[in-house]
Amino acid sequence: MGDYWYATVLEAHSLDHAVIEHEVAETARRSQVRRQPATDRQLVALGHDLVMTIEEPPRFEPFAADYEDHASTSAYNALYDRPAVLELCGAVTGLRVLDAGCGPGLYAEELVARGAHDVVGLDASPAMIELARLRVPERASFRAHDLQAPLDWLEPESFDLAVMALVIHHLDDRVAALRELHRVLRPDGHLVVSTHHPTGDWLRHGGSYFDVSVIEETWNRGWRVRYWRQPLTQTVTEFNDAGFLIERVVEPLPASEMATRYPDDYELLRTSPGFIAFRLLKAPEERRVAAGR
Ligand SMILES: C[S@@+](CC[C@H](N)C(=O)[O-])C[C@H]1O[C@@H](n2cnc3c(N)ncnc32)[C@H](O)[C@@H]1O
Repeated sequence: MGDYWYATVLEAHSLDHAVIEHEVAETARRSQVRRQPATDRQLVALGHDLVMTIEEPPRFEPFAADYEDHASTSAYNALYDRPAVLELCGAVTGLRVLDAGCGPGLYAEELVARGAHDVVGLDASPAMIELARLRVPERASFRAHDLQAPLDWLEPESFDLAVMALVIHHLDDRVAALRELHRVLRPDGHLVVSTHHPTGDWLRHGGSYFDVSVIEETWNRGWRVRYWRQPLTQTVTEFNDAGFLIERVVEPLPASEMATRYPDDYELLRTSPGFIAFRLLKAPEERRVAAGR
């Protein structure tokens, strides 16, 4: 990864977007922050009102193409997560959909094929965004964006549906990201979220089921990943804190096709949960006021 740093504008009070991007690029070039050794995350003051974080590239960036290759057909993605999440999305004909953490566009492709009016995809990894653009050239647009930052380029109440598949456990401030998705959803909109099943994480990692902690590990394709492990109560509390209520919960079972294509995965997932998926709706305003949210 060496000298490849990733920059995110955190605060930019008085400048418009084009100016900000120009200022960041210019100032970074002048001060040569790209060549500074960086700890995991550094705050760099850039003058004016700008502060940016300099950190390693987004975790999925180095293996974006390999992820696409894998997730297109893998047991856990193609025959377990996607069928459950798409079923929770329901009919999408004519809907405007936000794909938060879109990866290489596998969901966007399917949503467009199922009749979505248009899909806006975002992901922290620019390489993922490039792959998504190639995969879904029509009725979709994609933008590199870190969900830890506000979605200030999206209008309030402008989406019918948001999908966030296998992303939320990678976020440090999940409530802030969920609040932004809440803001851009129409009052009758839905958010479909999938994540690691907390029991699955507990069985794999041991210790206390009730731990809320960061796991850093290398998966068998050599992918270095970082994600949060937490009990179900914590996940539900975060949904509520962001103004969502749970409409449906699915603990998926493997698609029958998995039995022949990936028999070992099938046997495991048939008896032991890997992921969990939720369909959320926006809590009515009066309930949010009463709950102080
Ligand atoms: C397991 S992949 C899932 C991709 C896609 N949703 C799918 O199911 O095929 C996780 C994705 O989350 C993205 N991601 C991780 N942290 C993110 C963040 N802070 N903001 C935006 N995207 C993030 C990664 O770049 C990666 O594309």
